[in-house]
Amino acid sequence: MNFSLSSKAITATNTDCLVIGLPENGEWPETTKAADQALGGLIKQLEKAGDLTGKNASVSTLPLTEQPWQRVIVVGTGKDDERNLANYRKALIAAVGALKDGPSNSVFICLTDTKIQGSEASASEDARLNLLGRTLEEQLYTFTGFKSEQPPARKLNKVIAQASDADQSQKDAFNLGLATGRGMNYTRDLGNTPPNVCHPVWLAEQAKNMAKEHDCIKTEVLDEKQMAEMGMNTILAVGKGSTQPPRLIVMEYRGGKADEKPYVLVGKGITFDSGGISLKPGAGMDEMKYDMGGSASVFGTMKVLAETKPSINVVAVIAAAENMPDGSATRPGDIVTTLSGKTVEILNTDAEGRLVLCDALTYVKKFDPEVVIDLATLTGACIIALGHQATGMLANNDELANELLAAGERTGDRAWRLPLWDEYQSQLDSNFADIANIGGRPAGTITAACFLSRFTKEYRWAHLDIAGTAWDSGKAKGATGRPVPLLVDYLMSHAG
Ligand code: BES
Ligand code: MN
Ligand code: ZN
Repeated sequence: MNFSLSSKAITATNTDCLVIGLPENGEWPETTKAADQALGGLIKQLEKAGDLTGKNASVSTLPLTEQPWQRVIVVGTGKDDERNLANYRKALIAAVGALKDGPSNSVFICLTDTKIQGSEASASEDARLNLLGRTLEEQLYTFTGFKSEQPPARKLNKVIAQASDADQSQKDAFNLGLATGRGMNYTRDLGNTPPNVCHPVWLAEQAKNMAKEHDCIKTEVLDEKQMAEMGMNTILAVGKGSTQPPRLIVMEYRGGKADEKPYVLVGKGITFDSGGISLKPGAGMDEMKYDMGGSASVFGTMKVLAETKPSINVVAVIAAAENMPDGSATRPGDIVTTLSGKTVEILNTDAEGRLVLCDALTYVKKFDPEVVIDLATLTGACIIALGHQATGMLANNDELANELLAAGERTGDRAWRLPLWDEYQSQLDSNFADIANIGGRPAGTITAACFLSRFTKEYRWAHLDIAGTAWDSGKAKGATGRPVPLLVDYLMSHAG
């Protein structure tokens, strides 16, 4: 697909299709006025007759018999005072939905001169161009590699987005949006890949490929022997029941100054979570292939960095293992010594995410991190608490927490903070070891984070529980690409 920006008049770009926005009230955007004029007042006439309403995210395709376009797609953009980021995004999604399998080869999309509600950071033309870029890539995504028959190729191959100046800043905003969308799609590819293909060693290969493709990325992989020598026994304990050995994957992007501390991302990379000996119920177990969604979002974010090259240092660490039941699997009751030296009583082998993460969180101290953010499909309880709208966030630092919340608001990839009060910590008391790996039914997301917090005392840290946001179980079953937009926005806000 060829994407570009143009500030030319709508009739000056030579495309089969024109997309314009029609608000339900208020003044029309300039491009809509211009299109109406070019069509001899057709839009006004259809609106007056009630054939076009401007209802948000409605789509009407008007076939034309004369030039300048073969068709005009009119997208409703709703009422001025209701057009927030989320509603505007719905209109963009509807527009791309109408285009993607349609007959047009080329399109001029004029939707970013529609004003939206919100702060400068989330509602400026740059922000709208960023969102359009991201939405284009996101909505054009397909995952068909495992079907024996491929769908027919798309006709659409050229997308020009209208912009007031199409200057460098607007191009950067649009390109960052496109890169973010591609990063999300990479995250989705990894999450959707079946677990007989996507296992820890395969994930490590993806990281090595990333280093091959991009000079700015360095990859290092620790195998099970190296982990055993170091004492990363909890990662090993999770992988013990599987024939697929665990891996610790490290990717470094050094775009900043040599003396700038790195932002460290840590991803849960359970390539399949059967629960282990504490076996999960059968229904929906297939979806536990996305239990590497945290690491997939780290991969996606690294890809965006590699493509856009901001000046910031970022280190990604992925704790990859497969959680399976077997004669050699870890048992409930086993006690394991973590890399930190603390001992853990594993009361439930299905609480494995925190086990792989705790060793990774101890390991990352060696990078002297600016901050550490871990991403994990950690608890079913998070889906109960926040549903599929918000990522659960817990942090030991208010400034970091607030910045992540703000990045979520700006991108519509929102998080919600839960408390990490000391009062919850005692739920993890163990009679036999330093700490138990489960804290009972109450506040499951919080006690999981409490477990992690025992290993993150030496740096500023936030934990994102993406169990509810990284995967869509509905009709569009599959990985969502979240929280790549949040992470990219946060990191970009710290790039020099
Ligand atoms: N990967 C799961 C959490 C999960 C559940 C993610 C559903 C997405 C959808 C995690 O490893 C797990 O099994 N957590 C347990 C923890 C419990 C044993 C304390 C859970 O949430 O039930
Ligand atoms: Mn589990
Ligand atoms: Zn899990």
